[in-house]
Amino acid sequence: MTHAQNAQQFRINPLTESFGAEILGLDLAKPISDATFAAIQEAFQKYHVICFRDQVMDEKAHLDFTLRWGELEVFPEEDKTTTANTFYNVANTSREGEHLSEDDPRVLFQKVNARWHTDSSYRYVPSFASVMYSTEILPDEARGGETEFSNMLAAYDALSDADKRRFEPLHMVHYYEFGRRLYPALPPITPFERDAVPPVSHPLVRVHPDRDNQRSLFFTVNAGNEISGMSLEEGQGLHRWLDEYASKPEFMYSHRWCENDLVMWDNRVLLHRATHYDMAKYRRAFRRTTVAGNGPAFGPFSLIPAAVTSK
Ligand code: OGA
Ligand code: MN
Repeated sequence: MTHAQNAQQFRINPLTESFGAEILGLDLAKPISDATFAAIQEAFQKYHVICFRDQVMDEKAHLDFTLRWGELEVFPEEDKTTTANTFYNVANTSREGEHLSEDDPRVLFQKVNARWHTDSSYRYVPSFASVMYSTEILPDEARGGETEFSNMLAAYDALSDADKRRFEPLHMVHYYEFGRRLYPALPPITPFERDAVPPVSHPLVRVHPDRDNQRSLFFTVNAGNEISGMSLEEGQGLHRWLDEYASKPEFMYSHRWCENDLVMWDNRVLLHRATHYDMAKYRRAFRRTTVAGNGPAFGPFSLIPAAVTSK
């Protein structure tokens, strides 16, 4: 589809049959008219992950574009005085450009990202979207380093009726500290972080009021593996099944990054993960912002009056 906008023409090309689109011919560092922004919002709602090609964006342009969508989410660290709380450095390099060793905590955090997750699901109000801009991409010959996305709306639809019924009342426990359990070499969370983001339970089946109450699966592999109300072993068994289920190719889009890509994804309906690459040999860097969610995750019973009025 071609759109006229700000005297610019831009195109939206689907990337798979079910979700993901690239947007060509739009310069996000220039002012964006309300009509253009509405077309982008529509594309985002339809495709869940949108990639704007050929963007040259400094921090200000990145932030301005992010704020068009809502409030910025602040990271749960105590020191809110640095830009670290606005921009997340998704990289195996430091902010100063040093190539970090594989056991550096900043690189271990990247390894935590290699498991299926949705950003900041460990909050009571999980995030709306993430906006990530590539600053150093892998050379063509390097294997891996893609960002994979899995469509949890499609994954829910493809469940058997029996599984839909079985999952309907379940919740999953999400907690910020879980990454430390995966990589004990990471520094422990601080008391401030522990208080700021205690464990929360979210419905495993998420209901989306902005989509006519359509349902998706909602879980994470990097911020927990317990299912509320099940024994630990039973819950972890179901959780392993969900982890594998999300990896079915029919639910996935794998994004191989090009120079100057800006990718925005919907944390409400997708999972994502980074694929492995040779971290010692190659540098890979992004700058990421997060748009805060505007309410908690609803489950199948949250919106039904009968759920609170039954005897
Ligand atoms: C993230 C993330 C994936 C990647 O920044 O939240 O999951 O491919 N990144 O680096
Ligand atoms: Mn992530």
